[in-house]
Amino acid sequence: MEKEITDKIKLLEEKYALMGQDLNSYLDGLLLSNYLTYWDYTQVDTLLTLQKPKTDFPDELIFIIYHQITELYFKLSLHEMEQIAHNGRNILPNGMDKGWKDKIDAIYLSERVGRVNRYFEALTKSFEIMINGMEKEQFLRYRMALLPASGFQSAQYRMIEIACTDFINLVDKDVREEHVTKKSDLNDMFKFIYWNKGATELVTGKKTLTLEQFEKKYSAKFLQMANEYSTKNIWQKYQSLTEGEKQDPKLINALKELDVNVNINWPLVHYKSAARYLGAKDGDVPATGGTNWQKYLPPRFQKRIFYPQLWTDQEKEQWGKSWVDTNVFR
Ligand code: HEM
Repeated sequence: MEKEITDKIKLLEEKYALMGQDLNSYLDGLLLSNYLTYWDYTQVDTLLTLQKPKTDFPDELIFIIYHQITELYFKLSLHEMEQIAHNGRNILPNGMDKGWKDKIDAIYLSERVGRVNRYFEALTKSFEIMINGMEKEQFLRYRMALLPASGFQSAQYRMIEIACTDFINLVDKDVREEHVTKKSDLNDMFKFIYWNKGATELVTGKKTLTLEQFEKKYSAKFLQMANEYSTKNIWQKYQSLTEGEKQDPKLINALKELDVNVNINWPLVHYKSAARYLGAKDGDVPATGGTNWQKYLPPRFQKRIFYPQLWTDQEKEQWGKSWVDTNVFR
């Protein structure tokens, strides 16, 4: 037998012996097992059963699939954020997972934040599929069959925010200072979470059904996550670095890009789609959630900022006006 193969068998023997396993039995299993196929690995057949439009309008398929694509990118983003929160995996050369690392380093942090930036850039760029890729007439009809569901109810979108920043930065900007002074706990802050403002009925001023359902399903989960991430969100991980590492310009830039990608660029293209389909000269079409979307969605009104410490007062003042993007990164 070739030496290369005998060496590998030796390594395998060591690997299995370490866990008290008998290599011979595993080799039997290998002899019997089938070759892997693309369709089994990717579960493509199942994946393609998950698009279930509510109407016969052909363009509804675009709407549903693009939301699913977005959720998958959100999942990839959260996958990186979970690893960042735990300092990264310790994988041995033989492929064995030895659990989380004890400490994060600046290069790892900036590379992983860079991955999330690429996901958001892909989403921002591809949002044209929503803005220009559907017939307005069809959209305005089929959306009525989707009431009161809204992208507002995307839990992963909020989880990304919780994993990126200290919770106080997600409190409605008009009462944020007050909560800093009072040193409020997470439950207090959650009562004033920024997104409540985007889910108030225009006519009655009451919480929308969209929000009520969202809270019922996810509030406890969000609070639990906020608690867990209060010490391991991306900003806290950055804070845990040495003073020298914190000055790394690549890392600082990656964090600022993340702030702009999640809090300006994506919200702006998303807002553009609302303006295309719901905006009208003779008065806007109410959103499916019945909200004040014109006042709520534009980033310049919300001023959600993950890393206020990294921006100047002027940059914060100009938040969401095209100035930030063109002046900071180009
Ligand atoms: C034609 C395309 C779209 C239109 C017209 C649209 C419209 C809206 C509107 C009006 C709102 C405000 C809440 C409400 O009243 O429902 C909203 C919120 C939201 N939508 Fe969309 N949307 C579109 C596509 C998407 C897609 C593809 C996603 C991806 C998941 C998405 C995710 C969200 C999120 C996360 C919010 C909450 C934003 C925040 O709280 O700042 N939307 N959308």
